Amino acid sequence: MKAYRASLLSFSGREASLEPDGLLLVGPDASGRQIVQAMGSYQALAARYPNLTVEHLPGRIIAPGFVDMHIHYPQLDVIGSPAEGLLPWLENYTFPHEKRFASPEYNAQAAPFFVAELLRHGVTTALAFATSHPESVDALLGEAQKRGLRMIAGKVLMDQNAPDGVRDQTEQSLLESEALIKKWHGVNRLGYAITPRFVPSCSAAQLRGAGELAAKYPDVWIQSHVAENAGEIAWVRQLYPQSRSYLSVYEQFGLLRPRAVYAHCIHIDDGDRALMRATGTAAAVSPTSNLFLGSGFFDHVNADRAGVLYGLASDVGAGTSFSPFHTMLAAYCVGREGQTKPGVSLRPQHLWWQHTAGAAQALGLEGVVGNLAPGCEADFVVLNPQATPLLARKTAQAGSLDELLFALIVLGDDRVIERCVISQAVPA
Ligand code: GUN
Ligand code: ZN
Repeated sequence: MKAYRASLLSFSGREASLEPDGLLLVGPDASGRQIVQAMGSYQALAARYPNLTVEHLPGRIIAPGFVDMHIHYPQLDVIGSPAEGLLPWLENYTFPHEKRFASPEYNAQAAPFFVAELLRHGVTTALAFATSHPESVDALLGEAQKRGLRMIAGKVLMDQNAPDGVRDQTEQSLLESEALIKKWHGVNRLGYAITPRFVPSCSAAQLRGAGELAAKYPDVWIQSHVAENAGEIAWVRQLYPQSRSYLSVYEQFGLLRPRAVYAHCIHIDDGDRALMRATGTAAAVSPTSNLFLGSGFFDHVNADRAGVLYGLASDVGAGTSFSPFHTMLAAYCVGREGQTKPGVSLRPQHLWWQHTAGAAQALGLEGVVGNLAPGCEADFVVLNPQATPLLARKTAQAGSLDELLFALIVLGDDRVIERCVISQAVPA
């Protein structure tokens, strides 16, 4: 058993609590997974475990590893590509770039870089798009397996409205997806996600096949995009004039259910929210991406009112940062300026929850990751609230947990992540 003494951040529902002088005990469960065995105040726990060797981390906070609900592995180098909006951005930067991932040699250097970048920013669980090339899934999941990350990923389905080099073939794409499910889903900490890119890039036959796979493999994830941008929505309306909404196209093909995660969900209405709630479908909220592409603002207030599951996501490479701190800050700013006037001031602990325990719940991984509760997999970050001179000055003045968390959200970045410990040892 390993023991760490530090401040401990954990969640009960959306409420965070901080144990200022805590003890975290990590050890294997019956199947050999490293899990949180106990956590609480040092005073109370140390007496119960008298012969432990304790690693003392004074001045540090141990917090759950971050959960990124939506990220694109092949868009590492697409970050910061300027475009008028989503569709020209896809055509001019994203699709040409994703062509490179057909090559195993290209993947061999990109996948280790991508996974290392996640860990450097304290992200220990991610739901990721690969490209349409099965090789890209093998490279990403192979690397995640090596580093011990909890990674869910899928081969992108895109059999129309896309250029040669990334466009796939309907029947073949579904066979490849099923073969990848069999190869990777449930292996170590890995999962598979059926990944239709978005309605315009998938034929009806491909969406139907994706829905059939989703019914055949109910614990496999589904990931896609919905209602991000006005031009995209108009295009979907042309393709499916009979559908009540963009989201209901996915419903029609059996692609809304628990473990289905849709990025953006910006331009949706209460009918869509009710459909998400009824089907257990979750939203991946991607504020840096939505600001960067001028897509719009996620409506937290109405999502909560309707009981929609959601959590935060970087959406790299339309998103501008791997850093959960940057994403939480952007979500805060969007709440202030967003759809619901006069805007809301999202609580810092609610923002943090959206990137940890809340995101885990939205992925169907509540009690597995995203928290430091006993039984959770032992993924955590060691935070240094004094990582920069200004952070040290500001966090020293925090008079409440929300003030402390907000100082980290506003001023923090990868410098705050002193260590990222995952349930399996990360090789140096
Ligand atoms: N819609 C379809 N593909 C994409 C993508 O790669 N990024 C974003 N942000 N939206 C999409
Ligand atoms: Zn995306």
